[in-house]
Amino acid sequence: MPDRVPMNDDKRVYIFDTTLRDGEQSPGAALKNHEKLQIAKQLAKLNVDIIEAGFPFSSPGDFQSVQQIAAEVEGPVVAGLCRATPQDIEATWDAVKIAKRPRIHTFIATSDIHIETKFKRSRDEILQMARDMVALAASKCPDVEFSAEDAGRSDRFFLYKVLEAVIDAGATTVNIPDTVGYTIPEEFGRLIRNIKLNVPNIDKAIISVHCHNDLGMATANSLAGVLNGARQVECTINGIGERAGNAAMEEVVMAMHVRPAYFEGCYTNINTQEFVRTSQLVSELTGMPIQPNKAIVGRNAFAHESGIHQDGFLKGRDTYEIMHPQQVGLEKSSLPLGPRSGKAALKSKLQELEMIIPDESMPALFEAFKVLADEKKFVTDEDIQQLAGKWAVEKHAV
Ligand code: KIV
Ligand code: ZN
Repeated sequence: MPDRVPMNDDKRVYIFDTTLRDGEQSPGAALKNHEKLQIAKQLAKLNVDIIEAGFPFSSPGDFQSVQQIAAEVEGPVVAGLCRATPQDIEATWDAVKIAKRPRIHTFIATSDIHIETKFKRSRDEILQMARDMVALAASKCPDVEFSAEDAGRSDRFFLYKVLEAVIDAGATTVNIPDTVGYTIPEEFGRLIRNIKLNVPNIDKAIISVHCHNDLGMATANSLAGVLNGARQVECTINGIGERAGNAAMEEVVMAMHVRPAYFEGCYTNINTQEFVRTSQLVSELTGMPIQPNKAIVGRNAFAHESGIHQDGFLKGRDTYEIMHPQQVGLEKSSLPLGPRSGKAALKSKLQELEMIIPDESMPALFEAFKVLADEKKFVTDEDIQQLAGKWAVEKHAV
């Protein structure tokens, strides 16, 4: 029998990566199968707990890709997504069953707007479908996740009923998606707390959260979920995903890593030093650039430009850095030189370039630097070498 994730540590938060499924739903981000495999292998190095490899029933190509990842990627649980229909579930099981630890992830919407507009069914019919399809999935696979699509806008008493029924039918993880990124952190946290309090058999399943970023709150909502008892977070690298995207894994994980006391000791097993590498790989293969100021992995995330910040950083990095770049796989912070940079950063750059400038020449050099910096957005190493060249003195052997 394949394994499922253990549930013996109350503080452990499982990281469920959906870059290859929800992330790949970003317009223009479609990946070839060999690229998906490459990303999945990198996700395994990052040590994610679960890789959602795709949606096997959606196309023969996706089926093959999920099957290949299930066969070749070692370490994480490999999940396939499916609607709550027998054909979808069969196809998903066929795609993932070769994995050492397979998971069937089935979903159905529970909000009235979806039930009435999309399905044209009654709540009772949806409840029955959810229960039956989870039972079918559980008859094949010991690890079954059920998602209540649009849970964030669902009637909470109906949601409790559905969750109780699917856990009885064999769901081992119940996922609470804020599918349309509608909720606010305090509200989403309360929803998770209420699920814990009102679903009688909830202790038999892991509560998961899956938050979209339509109002820019996906990371905050996911973390509010964790603070209220969620122990799986679904997220993507660089926050890519449908519309405004999903919670960014690097943000969710580093928040718990940097603020362990605030998160009451909740932790993940992510190898955070692989973040930058993974982020760049996903960006390159999906063709989705990383915004420079993107938290954790953006080009500017560890760059200090203003003179006051550079001076503080050079006196003690913790003045302006709450984490160190090496923790996320960057070699070092940078002090880019620009119009707001000060003498401390210029001196540090001269040292790095091994240029010796007599003290009495520094005011003139600094003035010349300021003039150049006002003209250019960035002053490069080559600019400094040229500018400082006329004041530099040779290093003498002693
Ligand atoms: O956003 C969502 O509701 C989803 C589910 C399929 C989990 O992606
Ligand atoms: Zn989603």
